[in-house]
Amino acid sequence: MANETYLVTGAMGCIGSWVLRHLTDQGADIVATDLQADPVRGRLLMTDPEIAAITWEHLDVTDTKAVSSVVETHGVTHIIHLAGLQIPFCRADPPVGAAVNVTGTVNVFEAARAHNVKGLTYASSLAALGAPTFYDTWPLPDDAPTMPSTLYGVYKVANEETGRIYAADWNIGSIGLRPYTVYGVARDQGITADPAKAILAAAAGVPFHIRFSGPVALQHASDVAQIFIGCAKAETADAKVLNLRGDVIDIADFVETLKNRVPDAQITFEPDTPLPYPADLSDAGLQSVLGHVPHTPLTDAIENDITAYRSLLANGKLDLKQLES
Ligand SMILES: NC(=O)c1ccc[n+]([C@@H]2O[C@H](COP(=O)([O-])OP(=O)(O)OC[C@H]3O[C@@H](n4cnc5c(N)ncnc54)[C@H](O)[C@@H]3O)[C@@H](O)[C@H]2O)c1
Repeated sequence: MANETYLVTGAMGCIGSWVLRHLTDQGADIVATDLQADPVRGRLLMTDPEIAAITWEHLDVTDTKAVSSVVETHGVTHIIHLAGLQIPFCRADPPVGAAVNVTGTVNVFEAARAHNVKGLTYASSLAALGAPTFYDTWPLPDDAPTMPSTLYGVYKVANEETGRIYAADWNIGSIGLRPYTVYGVARDQGITADPAKAILAAAAGVPFHIRFSGPVALQHASDVAQIFIGCAKAETADAKVLNLRGDVIDIADFVETLKNRVPDAQITFEPDTPLPYPADLSDAGLQSVLGHVPHTPLTDAIENDITAYRSLLANGKLDLKQLES
């Protein structure tokens, strides 16, 4: 880790908090940035001294000069770019969505170009892809055609294409990662947070209804964070866009697995309501970059999460308000 400094944007989000957890474990120098001031999710995963050891900066990624300045001032060598607005926010306010998700990402690439950043990874999304019916090669390869059905997905495709041009024109390498259904402690908003919320509800002994059904690729936030870090460390010279896989499972089987661990769990799901994304994703590209792809098997992850949620609830560090939204 000598002479390495990691900039994390969107560091107070779910994946960002897990990235901080793992970078801290690795003894990395971290510059954690976000619009928010209070690391609510980070406190679910780290102790107060660990949080205090991180350098925190307020950073709006839409501010071109501010992004460049943070990278220059701290001698940033690696960037993990996670700041972004999710599907409902982009739909509610498309110009702001584009400013954060598209211009914000261009600003990050521009800062990487100006200040000789060695490793850059950023969050694309599975929402860059189309409905499963568009595809006929399974598991779905990384280079399957993009066919976004939301503005959010369109913005993520713009990120992927931005990466391609920065590599072609200026030799700025990058890896865009496409998470799908991320779960685990600190995953608390968006429809694909429902599996995480179901585990929390099972831990707390309260009912919860998952708003969809059918196959998904469940990816634990801890694994996803390690994948982002590993891809930044890979310091790739070209522009890659990579799928994640995790556990490809039907929601009915996920609920059954959860009930095997917590037999009295009151978890239901909406029948015949599949998410409009492919689930059977190939992570061969990710394997070729990382060698070993971090993957906590679902039963182990549920066990860990139940224990963590119960401890957080018992210590008054988490309430159940997130189950209502
Ligand atoms: N969680 C998932 O299942 C999932 C799936 C696919 C893609 N992604 C992508 O991964 C990234 C991280 O996801 P997450 O679940 O941690 O998201 P999140 O919503 O929990 O966190 C995003 C963070 O970005 C910050 N942010 C928003 N606007 C900003 C701005 N202008 N400047 C700086 N920070 C800003 C927010 O304050 C928030 O802390 C996002 O880009 C998201 O689109 C997530």
